[in-house]
Amino acid sequence: MNNDVFKGRDLLSLADFTPAEFLHVIEVASAQKRIWATGKRSTPLVGKAVAIVLQKPSMRTRMSFEVACVRLGAHPLIMTGPDGAFSRGESVRDTAKVMERYVDAIVVRTYAQSLIEEFAEACSVPVINALTDEHHPCQGLADFQTIQERMGRLAGVRFAYVGDGNNMAHTYLLAGALSGMDVRIATPSGFEPDASIVAQARAIAEGTGGRISVGIDPVAAVGGADVIATDTWASMGQESEHASRLASFQPFQINEGLLAHASPDVLFMHCLPAHRGEEVTDQVMDHACSIVYDEAENRMHAQKALLSLVLG
Ligand code: CP
Ligand code: NVA
Repeated sequence: MNNDVFKGRDLLSLADFTPAEFLHVIEVASAQKRIWATGKRSTPLVGKAVAIVLQKPSMRTRMSFEVACVRLGAHPLIMTGPDGAFSRGESVRDTAKVMERYVDAIVVRTYAQSLIEEFAEACSVPVINALTDEHHPCQGLADFQTIQERMGRLAGVRFAYVGDGNNMAHTYLLAGALSGMDVRIATPSGFEPDASIVAQARAIAEGTGGRISVGIDPVAAVGGADVIATDTWASMGQESEHASRLASFQPFQINEGLLAHASPDVLFMHCLPAHRGEEVTDQVMDHACSIVYDEAENRMHAQKALLSLVLG
């Protein structure tokens, strides 16, 4: 695939990619990672500036984007708190129209997907979603890069996500559909993923040979699974619901009992931060099957590839 098709593009949700484009970004990320490991360096984005606007807390996203920029030769501007964007009552559109005069790309972590959509619509430079309440596409790229590296394939992989029907569930539905996986989602009743994103994933899966199933039985979801993923039971912005969610989410904890239903070669994934003793036990986090730190590392490689493609 010609890298030029990515030039100037936004990434707001993984559904912005065709299946071939999604797989291409992952391939570029792994290729750049291999070249980096040989000690070879190149800085294709010298002279460019990238704003990284964070309206929610972040450790991995902030560090991985900042380091990705530095390694590509670009200058990252980290914008958080009242000194960041979207403060002092300025409209989303005005913010976009000013920021595009200073920088070559804008990475945004915010609450509503509608805000980043409005921002990107008004903005002439590429906008990259670094997590919204609905989507976390950069995490999806990194996680599927990690599966491809570990398993040597994505199509046909049995991928179970057990937990809250949140931004990660939505991201895995789309990533799994784009890569032709057998995606099984299990959430407590009342915490299902958004029906419109499930429908979007099913429509994509029709063209890739993927399968999408959504239910409320964690044991059925992980049966024979090659990969099991989970995420926090209360996302950023839902802290006040944390205590009241614990009882309904308890049967969805990833522990060795649940793991026993999966393939003997199962891999465990978590976008992190993990809440040990809640959605996952220490035993599973520290198990030989856990690839959580590889996923975290690949955030940097995947985002480096993405920035080099959209700004190339
Ligand atoms: N996984 C992830 O996005 O981590 P942070 O919230 O620390 O950025
Ligand atoms: N679902 C989590 C993911 C954190 C990376 C959240 O939105 O808080």
